[in-house]
Amino acid sequence: MKHLIAPSVLSADFANLKRDIEMINASEADWFHVDVMDGVFVPNISFGFPVMEAIKKYATKPLDVHLMIVNPDQYIERFAEAGASVITVHYEVCTHLHRTVQAIHAAGCKAGVAINPHTPVSLLKDILVDLDMVLVMSVNPGFGGQKFIPNTLNKLRELRAMALAINPNLLIEVDGGVGIQNLADLIEAGAGVFVAGNAIFGAASPTAMISELKQLNAQLKSS
Ligand code: DX5
Ligand code: ZN
Repeated sequence: MKHLIAPSVLSADFANLKRDIEMINASEADWFHVDVMDGVFVPNISFGFPVMEAIKKYATKPLDVHLMIVNPDQYIERFAEAGASVITVHYEVCTHLHRTVQAIHAAGCKAGVAINPHTPVSLLKDILVDLDMVLVMSVNPGFGGQKFIPNTLNKLRELRAMALAINPNLLIEVDGGVGIQNLADLIEAGAGVFVAGNAIFGAASPTAMISELKQLNAQLKSS
């Protein structure tokens, strides 16, 4: 399984966004993680289309768009047009999740479903075959810099077992409180895509931290 590093732009310096995007371009990171929050599904508002389009203008790597919004269906085409490669919606807001996933694919993007810390992995059983990715939230969504919830490891193990049986190519992403201190455990539990905000942008050298996260992956992969 390929391990990917997705720095979260939410923790970038918005007054120096171009500089931070170029830092990620030049680093060993694989994706840009783009957190869109609506102040309704989560108790915070981040940014919308104009900022995402500005990111897309300079980013040379895929945009992994995490929608923390209600009614995501009405915006899927616009997020695709704004440059998303992966669109992830939350299980908790999608009444007709299968239809939403079809709409993401019809817009030409990879489809992901995110689950909050309290949402059981087992609820994904009948949608798993249609997904490219599951995002397991390891904090309650809404803010960067929160503490990792340890039960996430059990959820990742359960999801990996389910994916092996139903959809072996499924990408498993983990988001929230991820850093060098828990990366090895998360890889061991089955995650393959790592979102990191504070761990990267709070480091003395974000570029060096990205390398460290990436190299730890490579080390474990070859062992
Ligand atoms: C939280 C967001 C995360 C956040 C992660 O709601 O979905 O992507 O930016 O930030 P850290 O890595 O600082 O927990
Ligand atoms: Zn996120």
